[in-house]
Amino acid sequence: MQSRGKWISLSGVKFVRNRRLILDEVSWEIHQGEHWTVLGANGSGKTTLLQLIAGYLWPTAGQITVLGRRFGETDLRELRKEIGWIGSFLQASVPPAQKALDFVVSGKYATLGIFAKPDASDYTQAREVAGRLRCAHILDQPYAVLSQGEKQRLLIARGLIHKPRLIILDEPCSGLDLVSREELLFTLETLGRSPKSPTMILVTHHLEEIMPSFTHALLLKAGRVAGAGERDEVLTPELLSHIFGVPIRAENMDGRYWSKVDFRAWHNDPA
Ligand SMILES: Nc1ncnc2c1ncn2[C@@H]1O[C@H](COP(=O)(O)OP(=O)(O)OP(=O)(O)O)[C@@H](O)[C@H]1O
Ligand SMILES: [Mg+2]
Repeated sequence: MQSRGKWISLSGVKFVRNRRLILDEVSWEIHQGEHWTVLGANGSGKTTLLQLIAGYLWPTAGQITVLGRRFGETDLRELRKEIGWIGSFLQASVPPAQKALDFVVSGKYATLGIFAKPDASDYTQAREVAGRLRCAHILDQPYAVLSQGEKQRLLIARGLIHKPRLIILDEPCSGLDLVSREELLFTLETLGRSPKSPTMILVTHHLEEIMPSFTHALLLKAGRVAGAGERDEVLTPELLSHIFGVPIRAENMDGRYWSKVDFRAWHNDPA
């Protein structure tokens, strides 16, 4: 069932695990055409939040609507088919001998390792997406033996193969070298600018990875929302210093942000 007017909406979401409150009163609205970045310290709840949105976890309390489908009224398996998940938590469930090509194709069926009879066109499509991400040459290797950067590209190819309406990127640049990272960011920017772009949500620890098409930002601190809105209003030194608990400098240069911990202010070093 579709709830009109809401693209992605969380209202009063709580998530408790092992009696620990991991997310608390999270409310967040994403409108069609926006791309968001999510920032927060290690353990602040970013991945958990994204797993909730992708329907891999169920909230302890609160309401979630994703792509117009309200949780509790929709088949989450159907929802997952419309979402491209690009994050390393999937890597653990890849069968060790699975070929990279099969790994990419598995994204089409949103179930790792289990295929609803892929056909020749799926393999053609996988090679095409992998070509765009410059990983076509490794498709015949077993996934398990590949380098971190190679796996990362395959994860992205896997996330894009079924032309999702929402792409969730959980630290997609981790393990990539400087040039590979720029190539990937450029790919995301090109995608983000195209009129038919899926909605993107990007988790990163590095402000310079937030390309201009990521128009909005959500900040998490210990499972609570510490800021949400247009990026220029949220990615401020004050709010960033607040969520990390240390003085941070941040500036926008040529449409990208650059940040660093203000080491001297942190340690009261006058030199
Ligand atoms: N399966 C689990 N069982 C118990 N606690 C968990 C589980 N998964 C996550 N947590 C806890 O929930 C909190 C939030 O974890 P989460 O992975 O969402 O953080 P994160 O913001 O993505 O961190 P990072 O930047 O390190 O990826 C952490 O304290 C983590 O230890
Ligand atoms: Mg995480």
